[in-house]
Amino acid sequence: MRIDKLLAHSGLGTRREVKNLLKSSIIEINGVIVKDPKTQVDPDTDTVMIGGEELDYQEFVYFMLNKPAGVISATEDDMHDTVLDLLEPSDIVQEPHPVGRLDIDTEGLMLLTNDGKLTHKLLSPKRHVDKKYFAEIEGIVTESDVIEFEKGITLADDYVTMPAKLSILSVDEVEQTSKIEVTIQEGKFHQVKRMFHAVGKDVLYLKRLSMGSLELDPQLELGAYRECTKEEIAQLKS
Ligand code: URA
Repeated sequence: MRIDKLLAHSGLGTRREVKNLLKSSIIEINGVIVKDPKTQVDPDTDTVMIGGEELDYQEFVYFMLNKPAGVISATEDDMHDTVLDLLEPSDIVQEPHPVGRLDIDTEGLMLLTNDGKLTHKLLSPKRHVDKKYFAEIEGIVTESDVIEFEKGITLADDYVTMPAKLSILSVDEVEQTSKIEVTIQEGKFHQVKRMFHAVGKDVLYLKRLSMGSLELDPQLELGAYRECTKEEIAQLKS
């Protein structure tokens, strides 16, 4: 890749700023000062030094975000803030994107990465990666719903979902609401809401707790994010 791209992706500034950095003769590749922004560099094999310090370049970035309601899980939107607006400018230089979609009113775990291979693996319909949600439901969720979810639910458009594991956490007979956890293996549009709709109930609140092996860090406030740990990344890839 070009040295100016590598430097910009490492958070050292815009392409223009990086060009000036190169002009100031402080960038070396394998001990040779480079000034031309077009110079090719291989981050895996070449050593890049900035003012005598070695650049620690990471090709891929992985962030875990606790998505709040009101933001869109896309990279751009004309009307609303997107999940990328919640990241520091220095964390978007490597162009991470959200892995999968959450509705605007859904909260919880959102993985953001520029690792296309991992994204594909997690989203591939063939892989059936588990997604676990907590939800508050309008209506009393019953054992018969649990059985229906286990069998697969026929949605309004006649699509039959894969089996889903539904656990009833609590029911409030007075308010006529229920708290549940549900694990689905697909990621159809509005899937959890449509599954409950099919059994005559509405989702009042929805939060994703996990995706595959990746669990939402309970320390993360709504809207906050952190880098995934090496272990989390390795587990997701395995
Ligand atoms: N299912 C839904 O209905 N909405 C989401 O955001 C995620 C799963």
